[in-house]
Amino acid sequence: MTEPQGTARIVARRTIGRRTVVAAAGAAGLSAALVACGGSDGTADSSDSSDGAGSSNGAAGQPTAGADGGAADVLAKTTDIPEGGGMVFADQGVVVTQPTAGEYKAFSSTCTHTGCAVKDIKDGVIHCPCHGSQFSAADGSVKAGPATKPLPTASIKVSGTSITLA
Ligand code: FES
Repeated sequence: MTEPQGTARIVARRTIGRRTVVAAAGAAGLSAALVACGGSDGTADSSDSSDGAGSSNGAAGQPTAGADGGAADVLAKTTDIPEGGGMVFADQGVVVTQPTAGEYKAFSSTCTHTGCAVKDIKDGVIHCPCHGSQFSAADGSVKAGPATKPLPTASIKVSGTSITLA
């Protein structure tokens, strides 16, 4: 079953309070480790080679954040992010978008109005379900209120087909 381009999916990872903290600390450590190694091409998890193009793997194909620090904190494969759309990563509090082919952006998924989590990303627009604010998937700027401030940029790194927190 294919999904139309420009649709959004939400990955809600199961998190139990303390595990979130452990995962976040692991991500920071891995970022430092990746910087130190320098030459790695980001082959954190190549065991599943989905062919992309409309695959509907959703959360099932998501690599887990390395609880033991053994794997990079891969948010998604580049093929998981629809062009013109994006995905919300609730645990990490980020939304990753692909406003144009091969260009990936990330922002805080917390709406700047009163803090709801943004939800749907379609046709280059990130939507907040609470009061209808809309943000640009390209730069996080406000396209429609009531929010008045843009979504803050989040740092990601694209290595090959893997998108990780930077
Ligand atoms: Fe997002 Fe109000 S919290 S529009």
